[in-house]
Amino acid sequence: MARQCNRDSGARPFLKWAGGKSQLLDEFSRFLPRTALRDGKITRYVEPFIGGGAVFFSLNRLFSFEQSTVSDVNEELIIVYRVIRRSLPRLSEELATLESAYREKNSQQKEAFYYAVRESFNRNRATVDFGHYTSRWIQRSAHIIFLNHTCYNGLFRVNRNGGFNVPFGRYKNPVIYDLDNLEKVAAMLKNTRIICGDFTRCRSAVDDSTFVYLDPPYRPLNSTSSFTSYSRAGFSDSDQERLAHFFRDLDRKGAMIMLSNSDPNDSFFEDLYDGFSIRRVPAKRMINCNGARRGFVNELLITNYG
Ligand SMILES: C[S@@+](CC[C@H](N)C(=O)[O-])C[C@H]1O[C@@H](n2cnc3c(N)ncnc32)[C@H](O)[C@@H]1O
Repeated sequence: MARQCNRDSGARPFLKWAGGKSQLLDEFSRFLPRTALRDGKITRYVEPFIGGGAVFFSLNRLFSFEQSTVSDVNEELIIVYRVIRRSLPRLSEELATLESAYREKNSQQKEAFYYAVRESFNRNRATVDFGHYTSRWIQRSAHIIFLNHTCYNGLFRVNRNGGFNVPFGRYKNPVIYDLDNLEKVAAMLKNTRIICGDFTRCRSAVDDSTFVYLDPPYRPLNSTSSFTSYSRAGFSDSDQERLAHFFRDLDRKGAMIMLSNSDPNDSFFEDLYDGFSIRRVPAKRMINCNGARRGFVNELLITNYG
């Protein structure tokens, strides 16, 4: 059963991720199905848009599930989860090599080193088989973690060809990786099914003892605020409609479901989720690169329970 953990597993997100929910955890936790999570009705956890996993790690610190399933359409992200689970010692060797090469350089050399790693990462993309685990995934995962912690704003953003295109971030002494945390993450992932693909692929993992958290890419608040480049595919209004069908399908399966999205100030989500509980939670949106435009906007929280 999903019982309250006696010991905090301690695992935390190991990547900074656009749309990450770290800052909303306190707000969201008020709307979790706490009784069902505590009394054993819920035994499984499913998160089809895992991203950096802020909610996944947070919930797994509080409750222990018999089984978890996570997925994301971003194949680069998914290989990192799989490599941490399967090859952490070799990953940490790669990270240690990158970190010491980076640390011994002056700031100009650091920037050149960052762009050299980015170039190699993008060049190698064509030769990676994302469908089958290979040892090449290990270096690629080390590169992703390194780039994520040394790039501007800690984003993972790709261009139309799938090339990582975030510029260098001028941090003085960025933490590149935390081995202690990666070990906790690896231990937690042992019990987790990790799927690469569309959210619908999680369907078979859901039953009437499952809690599902859905955190799709935000529906843009306006035409200029969109961040849809986690992957080349993007997430359109018709994907939001597909997701609403999926929500209803999982509801019929008896799962408890929570979904978050931006509040577009129109009736788009009210129409899609008519009949479910819709709340507005104040949120500090961090996605906009323009600091002046960051601010408090409402986040929608939709649940199929009270
Ligand atoms: C808002 S982010 C999730 C953030 C995550 N909750 C966190 O705290 O870091 C949305 C994620 O959905 C993924 N995504 C986009 N389209 C998808 C699809 N069709 N199926 C599954 N995942 C998708 C993106 O790659 C991105 O990682």
